[in-house]
Amino acid sequence: MDLLYRPRRLRYDERLRHMVRETRMTPDSLIYPMFIREGENIVEEIPTMPGQYRYSVDRMGEKLEELLNAGVDKVILFGIPDHKDEMGTEAYAQNGIVQRGFRFAKKNYPEMYLIGDVCMCEYTSHGHCGVLCGHEVDNDKTLELLAKTALSQVEAGADMVAPSDMMDGRVAAIREALDNNGHTNIPIMSYAVKYASSFYGPFRDAAGSAPSFGDRKSYQMDFHNRREAIKEALSDIDEGADIIMVKPAMAYGDIIREVKDLTNVPMAAYSVSGEYSMIKAAGIAGYIDEEKVMCETAVSAYRAGVDIYMTYFAKELAECMKKGLIG
Ligand code: PBG
Repeated sequence: MDLLYRPRRLRYDERLRHMVRETRMTPDSLIYPMFIREGENIVEEIPTMPGQYRYSVDRMGEKLEELLNAGVDKVILFGIPDHKDEMGTEAYAQNGIVQRGFRFAKKNYPEMYLIGDVCMCEYTSHGHCGVLCGHEVDNDKTLELLAKTALSQVEAGADMVAPSDMMDGRVAAIREALDNNGHTNIPIMSYAVKYASSFYGPFRDAAGSAPSFGDRKSYQMDFHNRREAIKEALSDIDEGADIIMVKPAMAYGDIIREVKDLTNVPMAAYSVSGEYSMIKAAGIAGYIDEEKVMCETAVSAYRAGVDIYMTYFAKELAECMKKGLIG
């Protein structure tokens, strides 16, 4: 055969395959989501997320150490309070559960970079991401509470805040509150493009944050929409977001690519609880090779354009990167 183009030429040798690889990644880009609960001496497995745990503050160090040893030095903390109320007061309580988690981690693990998830749903008795007016989530009233929440997290030791509530104008409100209190250098990573997704199911079990009525469709995005993702990303950048996020990651590669091409800030994607649980469950059942599918899924997000990947598999992925299996 007289073939000029033989793409296989670059695939015959492993060293060559690695040299021409188009997608590179390192553990610096990984963020591990972690659940902190009330109580003492608790490390409790989350039934719908095998291998993931809720930690009381006094036991969270074990996980932080494990992560640091694997080369993962960023975590995002979610608090699970004992007491929930209409206004989500524990979200911005000076001595709230997540604030105590930040204080502990900052003091004992200063090498760990700490990110605060800013939202109300884990803290409200009704499970919605803001305060209610009747059965509606009141956007503008919620902004003030989100700003207070972000500020309280930073005062407790958070190095960055990440609003996940999807209220309009929250990035600006948080930026203003941080700046007015001297925290001009604390970055905001906005969950800018967050869809109303069934992939969040296991998280809501983990955090006890499922809405007690209705759903989140009046604030999270309709997953039929692509152009709206651009609108959300650009408006958050206008309001001062330093990093933007697309969520979920799996099944949203088109959105990641499109947002990446049309913006100029670092971009994250959150590989959410349902993605983790599907891979884990199929792995446990022996239907797929868990490690290989985990790796392939992660690479797909980076290939789509993410710079930062939030995942419950952070530790395992860091190990795979170090072994040279991916990246
Ligand atoms: C809080 C929040 C949620 C997730 C991250 N922040 C839940 C939700 O919006 O219902 C989901 C993360 C995951 O599924 O892993 N609003």
